[in-house]
Amino acid sequence: MKLGIVGKGGVGKTTVSALLAQAYARRGARVVAIDTDSNPNLGLSLGLAFADMEAVPVLPRSLIVGAGGDTTAEELIRDYGRPTPSGATLLSAIRVTEAAAGCQCGGHATVRSFLGDALAQQADVTLVDMEAGLEHLSRSGGTLAYADVLLVVMEPSRKSVLTAARTLALAEDLGIERVYGVGNKARDSEDAAFFRRAAGEYGFPLAGVVGYDPQVAEADRDGSAVVGTAPDEVLVQIDGVIDFVEQAGSAISAAG
Ligand SMILES: Nc1ncnc2c1ncn2[C@@H]1O[C@H](COP(=O)(O)OP(=O)(O)OP(=O)(O)O)[C@@H](O)[C@H]1O
Ligand SMILES: [Mg+2]
Repeated sequence: MKLGIVGKGGVGKTTVSALLAQAYARRGARVVAIDTDSNPNLGLSLGLAFADMEAVPVLPRSLIVGAGGDTTAEELIRDYGRPTPSGATLLSAIRVTEAAAGCQCGGHATVRSFLGDALAQQADVTLVDMEAGLEHLSRSGGTLAYADVLLVVMEPSRKSVLTAARTLALAEDLGIERVYGVGNKARDSEDAAFFRRAAGEYGFPLAGVVGYDPQVAEADRDGSAVVGTAPDEVLVQIDGVIDFVEQAGSAISAAG
């Protein structure tokens, strides 16, 4: 299962990615979590100390991963993967350290190649925490072209929902059929209802709603891990998202 976590800036992609990674690992899956943000911080959310996160090596650019390519997925994980307290292995795909160093297309090409068949033997679940915006769907070939599912994280705002609607259209062009919304930072039942209405209006299934939690926000301010902090209520909501994704997948297989 290969999931891309996408959405507008600041909606909670990295937070949701880390919580999903932990939840899948707790279910016994081998999880690889890939940070593709040029300003990476998924490692912190997964429980690494800041210095350890900064020491995670960045994947080489423009690699063809897999049979007949530059390297195998096994070697890539061995050399660049780092275990995290969440139970997931972290890969850091992109990091901008110099001004005016050029575009990051090479890093995205590596992730795209890696998400092909190469990874199948190495991970049961691969989660890709994307940078905000839509470029990962338009960049040549699409970084997430081989993803099985896109989870579009939203907060209770019209603009984040519009991003979800635009993602849906682009994903269709890439041939990604399974695009689900995840409402995040819901403060009350009004917010939850807003997500349900928006999903109906724009025509994407809603995989779940995660509430606004002050401890989650505080963990971020402290620079500490969300995986050790999020209360049970949030973990149950995240589990609900995974159940939705799995059940929807089974329904598709049964229909096919
Ligand atoms: N469910 C939640 N409850 C409370 N705060 C949350 C929740 N989800 C995310 N946040 C907070 O929202 C802020 C943005 O979260 P996060 O970094 O995960 O978003 P993002 O979409 O990955 O951002 P970016 O677009 O910069 O990559 C953080 O301060 C985080 O702690
Ligand atoms: Mg992020």
